[in-house]
Amino acid sequence: MSVGAITKAVFPVAGMGTRFLPVTKATPKEMLPIVDKPLIQYAAEEAVAAGVRELIFVTSSSKRAIEDHFDKNYELESELEKRGKRELLEIVQGVVPEGVSCVYVRQPEALGLGHAVLCARPVVGKDPFAVILADDLIDGGADPCLAQMSRLHAEHGCSVLGVEEVPAADTDKYGIVDTEDAGERIGRLRSIVEKPRPAEAPSRLAVVGRYILTPRIFDLLAATPRGAGGEIQLTDAIARLLESETVLAYRFHGRRYDCGSKLGYLQATVEYARKHPELGPGFEAYLKGV
Ligand code: G1P
Repeated sequence: MSVGAITKAVFPVAGMGTRFLPVTKATPKEMLPIVDKPLIQYAAEEAVAAGVRELIFVTSSSKRAIEDHFDKNYELESELEKRGKRELLEIVQGVVPEGVSCVYVRQPEALGLGHAVLCARPVVGKDPFAVILADDLIDGGADPCLAQMSRLHAEHGCSVLGVEEVPAADTDKYGIVDTEDAGERIGRLRSIVEKPRPAEAPSRLAVVGRYILTPRIFDLLAATPRGAGGEIQLTDAIARLLESETVLAYRFHGRRYDCGSKLGYLQATVEYARKHPELGPGFEAYLKGV
């Protein structure tokens, strides 16, 4: 079965970011920079590189900085133009590439990831779509993670979850899947469970923040009661989805940084600084001296 490309991506960005307080008191965690770009821009760029043309942000009242980041800033642009700063102007204007549009949907209550995705239903409609969690930063090099997943979706026509192996002690931080082999790096889901304790986890394969989902997930989300942590869990709706549809787990190529944790955030900062075209050599020299 071959289906069309994924053109819509949902970015749930309504969370409070308590793990990064106090910096996230007035700044959304998705706006934390890795070198010179906010996390949410890396996520948007990954989506666009996979062919996405509509970026759907599920926000809350304290997240206006995200809307401003993806909006036109006339004052800044005319100032840069006046000063002849062409390169900077291109950087600012390129935040949203030509042909890409942004839509904002409010999540009125913090009822969890599943609820956030359900809030995007009126915009997504009846097409398969992607969900990207910006605090999972994935460096896929020349072949970004969502593009890899989108090809798999086009080939099989079903939902695809990005997964990676995590230490046994960490299963209670993730949705964990049980799979049967279905090809290189591909497993067919047998079950999925949200944040199991290590002793109860069916495997060490964790869902990281990349999903391609068929629209049937919306009906299932609408019927999903509160689960782990008192929240409506996307994982629980996916568990129902695989009763009627094939769902694939895909071990992507690339390195993931858990930028929802301070250590992962610092690791990403160091690695992205090392390969930054301007900063890289100087930063590498600095690291050698530390
Ligand atoms: C969410 C999901 C979880 C997934 C994780 C990936 O959890 O509920 O299934 O494994 O993202 O980062 P959260 O990190 O929001 O607690």
